[in-house]
Amino acid sequence: MPIQTTPNIWHNGKLIPWEQATIHVMSHVIHYGSCVFEGIRCYKQPQGSAVFRLPEHMQRLLDSARIYRMELDFNLEELCAAVVDVIEANGVAPCYIRPIVLRGYGEIGVSPKGSPIEVYIANFPWGKYIESQGGADVCISSWNRLAPNTLPSLAKAGANYMNSQLIHMEAETNGYAEGIALDVNGLVSEGSGENVFVVRNGVLYTPPLANSALSGITRDSVLTIARHLGLPVTEQALPRELLYIADEVFFTGTAAEVSPIRSIDRILVGDGKPGEITKKIADEFFGIANGLKPDRFGWLTPVKISSHEPVTA
Ligand SMILES: Cc1ncc(COP(=O)(O)O)c(C=O)c1O
Repeated sequence: MPIQTTPNIWHNGKLIPWEQATIHVMSHVIHYGSCVFEGIRCYKQPQGSAVFRLPEHMQRLLDSARIYRMELDFNLEELCAAVVDVIEANGVAPCYIRPIVLRGYGEIGVSPKGSPIEVYIANFPWGKYIESQGGADVCISSWNRLAPNTLPSLAKAGANYMNSQLIHMEAETNGYAEGIALDVNGLVSEGSGENVFVVRNGVLYTPPLANSALSGITRDSVLTIARHLGLPVTEQALPRELLYIADEVFFTGTAAEVSPIRSIDRILVGDGKPGEITKKIADEFFGIANGLKPDRFGWLTPVKISSHEPVTA
């Protein structure tokens, strides 16, 4: 889907016109993949608009930067305020927000020391990521997720998404909506851009972070909702074949939200329809995000927008 532009992008503390948010081809990030980023959603609600779990996303951005020794001139509070500023300046909600921290133009060579840290935050309209009326048809990827102590999975770094691209392109080429990757030991890890949940005999399972999975904010939201609903939840290593005999399987992610999976490697999940537990969790998740249920966990940051129509530059 082509990006729908908006008037402004936040750059190092200032709003600049969308078309001026460009970088030089000799920037460090272009050659060595040196960036960390976030993906956040702002939902439209009956009472206004609100960003979903903004501080948690920006804390993960700071954590990713810390892992890669990137020192930012902005703290958590300032970064959260910047997200609100850019959304309000652009007047676009609902929207997707993309903060990115990168190593810019300075020196050539692997050492990032001489290249400046640049922070950008863009927002733009974005709809459903996984179009799956009734559930997505997915495959197990032939590509493994990142091995421990190679590229750190807890950092949401641009370089990790070269692996994600391999997973996603293979799935798409073979007619699937998405791929689920195993870790290097053959245990279930995650999708190219989503965490994975499995329901079997009334218990909700998801792989622990040690299986090379990103610490998804939606994953955490689903675990919180499930515990609140009194569902038994366990984070444990999952063998591949559990996916084929599960009652329900679904993806979670900021882009994917809560997306039921209909089949895996052409084997139907349960009876092939979104299951009761998936529906209950999705109902609570979308209820909170869309402002139709109480924000009982304090997940929403309100933004003031006068028009809800997308504004293009
Ligand atoms: C590889 C990967 N795993 C999991 C997720 C889900 O994370 P979140 O729920 O924070 O968006 C994402 C999306 O950011 C991702 O790219």
